[in-house]
Amino acid sequence: KKRVLTGITTTGTPHLGNYAGAIRPAIEASKAADVESFYFLADYHALIKCDDPARIQQSRLEIAATWLAGGLDPERATFYRQSDIPEIPELTWLLTCVAAKGLLNRAHAYKAAVDQNTGAGEDPDAGISMGLFSYPVLMAADILMFNANRVPVGRDQIQHVEMARDIGQRFNHLFGGGREFFVMPEAEIAEEVATLPGLDGRKMSKSYDNTIPLFSSSKELKAAIARIVTDSRLPGEPKDADASHLFTLYKAFATAEQSVQMHAELGAGLAWGEAKQRLFELLDGQLAEPRERYHELLARPQDLEDILQAGAVKARRIATPFLAELREAVGLRNFA
Ligand code: TYM
Repeated sequence: KKRVLTGITTTGTPHLGNYAGAIRPAIEASKAADVESFYFLADYHALIKCDDPARIQQSRLEIAATWLAGGLDPERATFYRQSDIPEIPELTWLLTCVAAKGLLNRAHAYKAAVDQNTGAGEDPDAGISMGLFSYPVLMAADILMFNANRVPVGRDQIQHVEMARDIGQRFNHLFGGGREFFVMPEAEIAEEVATLPGLDGRKMSKSYDNTIPLFSSSKELKAAIARIVTDSRLPGEPKDADASHLFTLYKAFATAEQSVQMHAELGAGLAWGEAKQRLFELLDGQLAEPRERYHELLARPQDLEDILQAGAVKARRIATPFLAELREAVGLRNFA
């Protein structure tokens, strides 16, 4: 069986980008008979980006409820919180000891943080934590712990999956003695939604404050869609659908026929207001049912807790013996 694994950082309310880029394809993948799936709340990663404990706690609940409301079957998949698996930080240390610092120097998130420290004479590492710097090693541990073959993610995570391969390969080479402890994971990108745009056309992201929350109410959804930036073409003037992020959003949720039709109508002069109304109806129609499940789940935190605890037990059944082998391989073996 092939293993599919992905995680969501618990720093905010899940948005359409998280859903289309990772959650939806991951849930789809988990339904195949020849797949074992591992989906988790990346709450250790959240600590790197956020120092507001209440927000992290709330986000963990929301993201747990999102996976289940989206149709994940926790009996079938292994569904857990990263922070419930102590083997993950332990593996992170083993990998930290083989990861090249030069590799991590090239990580996009770290480089972007350095680029912000551009003032003359300023320390390029000012304000950058070791957590941010080592972020890709923790992510490598997430992936390698379960020997994932496929990792469904949005485009912004490709580099991290490549780094996981790099680090895993180095560990295999140094300690495997001919044995491949880790399989090489592949990032799996749904081309159409690899980078879902936000309200302003940039990548939909919590950090740009341009997101459409996945399970906002109908009214909020409508208001958010009204704020999508379009060009100034008037009703009746032909619109360039391919240059419009409103159309990109539509396409990410529509059937192929619906997309073809919308493309043609925009070209024939459909008003932006009308296009927004159609996007609203499409999303609201698809999300109404899971939204209701989502709110029901949020009202039952104990049930969510039980599901995640059961998931942690399942995950540790794999992680505990595997970590024991890895410890032996690096020379951490009991004396007797
Ligand atoms: P995070 O929490 O930033 O995002 C979760 C997933 O959503 C995808 N995504 C998008 N996809 C398309 N368009 C967008 N606008 C968009 N915005 C976000 C992300 O690519 C991601 O797949 N480091 C990861 C979490 C993580 C992880 C892992 C993922 C931790 N360990 C192991 C896979 C495997 C992150 O911060 O994603």
